[in-house]
Amino acid sequence: MNETDRGHWGSRLGFIAAAAGSAIGLGNIWRFPYITGKFGGGFFVLIYILLLIFVGYPVMNSELLLGRKTQLAAVGTFKKLAPGTPWVIVGFMGVLAGFVILSYYSVVAGWALAYMFKSGVYMAVGADHGGIFVSSITSTWGGIFWHSVFMLLCIAVVAGGVEKGIEKWSLILMPVLVVLLIILIIRSVTLPGAGAGLSFYLTPNFSNFSGAGFLAAVGQVFFTLSLGMGCMITYGSYLKKEEDIPLVARYVVISDTAIALLAGFVIFPAVFAFGLEPGAGPGLTFITLPAVFAQMGAAGHIFGFIFFTLLMIAALTSAISLLEVVTAYSIDEMKFDRKKATIVAGVLIWALGLFPTLGYSTLSHIKLIKGMDLLDSFDFFANNMLLPLGGMLTAIFIGWYWGTDKALEEANISASRKLGSNYAFLIKYVVPIAIFVVFLNSVGLLG
Ligand code: PHE
Repeated sequence: MNETDRGHWGSRLGFIAAAAGSAIGLGNIWRFPYITGKFGGGFFVLIYILLLIFVGYPVMNSELLLGRKTQLAAVGTFKKLAPGTPWVIVGFMGVLAGFVILSYYSVVAGWALAYMFKSGVYMAVGADHGGIFVSSITSTWGGIFWHSVFMLLCIAVVAGGVEKGIEKWSLILMPVLVVLLIILIIRSVTLPGAGAGLSFYLTPNFSNFSGAGFLAAVGQVFFTLSLGMGCMITYGSYLKKEEDIPLVARYVVISDTAIALLAGFVIFPAVFAFGLEPGAGPGLTFITLPAVFAQMGAAGHIFGFIFFTLLMIAALTSAISLLEVVTAYSIDEMKFDRKKATIVAGVLIWALGLFPTLGYSTLSHIKLIKGMDLLDSFDFFANNMLLPLGGMLTAIFIGWYWGTDKALEEANISASRKLGSNYAFLIKYVVPIAIFVVFLNSVGLLG
């Protein structure tokens, strides 16, 4: 199969919309606010931003340039650059991560879809929002239904191709996401009592921050930027040779960070204005927020609908990139055509997703990792193990095997320029060491 058959992005803006769409997802709107709430607000945000610059940005460049260099997805990239070596395993780990992450991502996105359609009912004043959440995720057929609808949407987009499916839909959906977010921010920060939320969010507070906060921040950097699993290698493989990688990488990192920070401006002022708890954990968006909407009266139905539509759009543009990792692998390596590749990958991931879906009902007795239910176990395995390990090995691959000079050449940066020497230093030392510490901790060796 030659390069043109695989497809290319139609424009720079289209690529940025697709890559930012991949990065901006549940990680920004669901996960970032709740871990920020958990680790005390402002100071956590500061550490997170430093890690984005010194770990996230160099790895983003690395993945994009590897894919662009080989014009192949993750497995093909390592095969081509390191033929006959075990490096190909890093590519396979990425495909595995794509399977695992999308299988539960689709379950959470399914909850957002369900809330979107039922927002009129759910946002009732005085309702037991925790109870509603629990009953909706523990409904066997409801869970399966919404997970299936969401997977069908992903399959429909990815089967359309790189330019006519992923890029086209990202260019439509991302501006909608920004508009919805702005409407919600304006509502949230103008609520009476919003100031307490703003000061919680923006004032550095060292007391709740700990080593665990640092680890969570590193994990979040990888998850939110879609790194460590070949997703950006795959998206990079559709980039044209003349594209300026450091520039587009910067756009993607900055837009992802901006959306996460802005999501905080929706959640914290609203949560504080109604006297609720910011540290509620994963239930922050599905339990605390519906309670907030309920107290807004009739307008709450509208704002609830807008919020869950936003969450669903963010999830969809990320989920298609996860499906694309597996699809592109079967196109490149198994020579499937795109439709067949997408459908086979989508159906297999859908089937795997039945486990985390049923983990709250029929299979709730199964605790895979450290007493966690199936969805949290999948999330832990992918986020705390596969992604950091994948990111670390990718940095070591470039820094110590393939060579930062070749990487800089592919990215059209000269090693003598400051950007080039900084990149080499970060990729060889800072990134692998930072992740190694996190990884050791994840597997429980450090405590
Ligand atoms: N970046 C996405 C988010 O923040 C999740 C994701 C991870 C997507 C890995 C693709 C690959 O929600």
